[in-house]
Amino acid sequence: MTTNNKQKRGVISVIGLGVVGLTTAVGFALKGHRVIGIDIDPAKVISINEGISPIYERGLSQAMKEVKIVATLDFEQVLKSDISFLCGGTPGQADGSLDLRFVQGPVGQLAQVLKSKDSYHLVVVRSTVVPGTTEAVIAPNFPDTERIGLCVNPEFLREGTAIEDFLNPSRIVIGERDDKSGDVLCQLYAGFNTHTLRTNLKTAEMIKYASNSYLATRISFINEIGNICKGLGINVYDVASGMGYDERIGHDYLRAGVGFGGFCLPKDVAALAAKAKELGYESRLLQDVLAINEEQPRKMIALLKKHVPDLKGKVIGVLGLAFKPDTDDVRKSKAIDVIEELLKEQAQVKAHDPQAMKNFAKLFPDIEYVTAEQALDSDAVLILTAWDKYNRLDYRGKIVIDGRRVMRAEEATVYEGIGWGRNGYTYTCESSDVMAKLVPVLK
Ligand code: UGA
Repeated sequence: MTTNNKQKRGVISVIGLGVVGLTTAVGFALKGHRVIGIDIDPAKVISINEGISPIYERGLSQAMKEVKIVATLDFEQVLKSDISFLCGGTPGQADGSLDLRFVQGPVGQLAQVLKSKDSYHLVVVRSTVVPGTTEAVIAPNFPDTERIGLCVNPEFLREGTAIEDFLNPSRIVIGERDDKSGDVLCQLYAGFNTHTLRTNLKTAEMIKYASNSYLATRISFINEIGNICKGLGINVYDVASGMGYDERIGHDYLRAGVGFGGFCLPKDVAALAAKAKELGYESRLLQDVLAINEEQPRKMIALLKKHVPDLKGKVIGVLGLAFKPDTDDVRKSKAIDVIEELLKEQAQVKAHDPQAMKNFAKLFPDIEYVTAEQALDSDAVLILTAWDKYNRLDYRGKIVIDGRRVMRAEEATVYEGIGWGRNGYTYTCESSDVMAKLVPVLK
């Protein structure tokens, strides 16, 4: 994991040590920087100082053995750094707009603390904020543009592969208030071998929103196609495969299923739609992307009821609680919607996840948490997260409703995918194979 780019450079402070903050902190430390991490959670600070990752994220624990992050509750420590990354979370509110308290709080503190600093300091907004926020809400706190630089630097880190994504970014986007701010940030990223795009603050913010909204749109699009395919007896995965070979389309983000969850895609699409509304524009596309996504869990339940019409008192096994594999994060996981529906129908839920049962139990303390094998021992099984482990289970004799296309589950006695059935019929072939088959026939 250690990078080959370890010469010592400026000191960085990272404010807010969630997935994005901690990955940014550890990533820059791997690049040879001294990093100070600041957070308000004492348990997190202790854990990081002991070299233990407070979150489950592939490669992070190993990386934290290789490099040291000094974590602290003391905000004044930013004075020991030259660049501060603001990484506070921006949770969504009921109307789609963002709760900015974890950005505005630290910004106020930072502005206060930096008053006593004579030398140049760069403030970098890494939190996801809707276009215009940095200019309108953050910049006024740092009016001295000679002394304090300001940039927006959106992250494109996927949970589960965040460290890898940090070290090998698809692109680096720098929104700058002025040339000097952009130059300093550009210099910091000099060792990264990728495209660097410099632009103004709000364009950088929009690039982040447009990117996540586009990914979400692709998922809802393929789910829409899947729902049509289902009625036609066509397997949407075959269709997606046939589409993906077109280089203009590509294969990524066309995995149909129970929908997109997590802290980012649902919230970002909703926030962009809310911002558009505030500007007097109804984004029908973004609203439909969300509506399709909200409908998918109910489709799972409808498929289940085709085979188990009355769920009252029935034992339903749920495989997968995390919003995607390789994370313990359950925020906006589709498992939440599905399990809520099952409980409404008075089913008895036995749930399993390799990493996320502890987090899920905070939301649903009363359902039963079991091993994957025990979850299979139910009246019917729902698959909601595509963990590798689920591709190695024995589904024979079971009723399975699959929300993620786990191939092995096709062995079940009853198998229904949300946009597909056991009816996949697409393979790639070489013309030489066909000739080999035909030659004896033609003779
Ligand atoms: C997403 C983006 O992919 C990152 O680029 C971005 O930096 C991040 O949000 C963020 O804004 O911080 P992440 O939330 O980790 O990353 O999740 P994804 O890997 O994009 O998956 C999101 C959801 O979509 C998951 O529930 C996943 O199961 C679902 N998904 C993904 C599908 O249903 N089908 C697909 O083809 C792909």
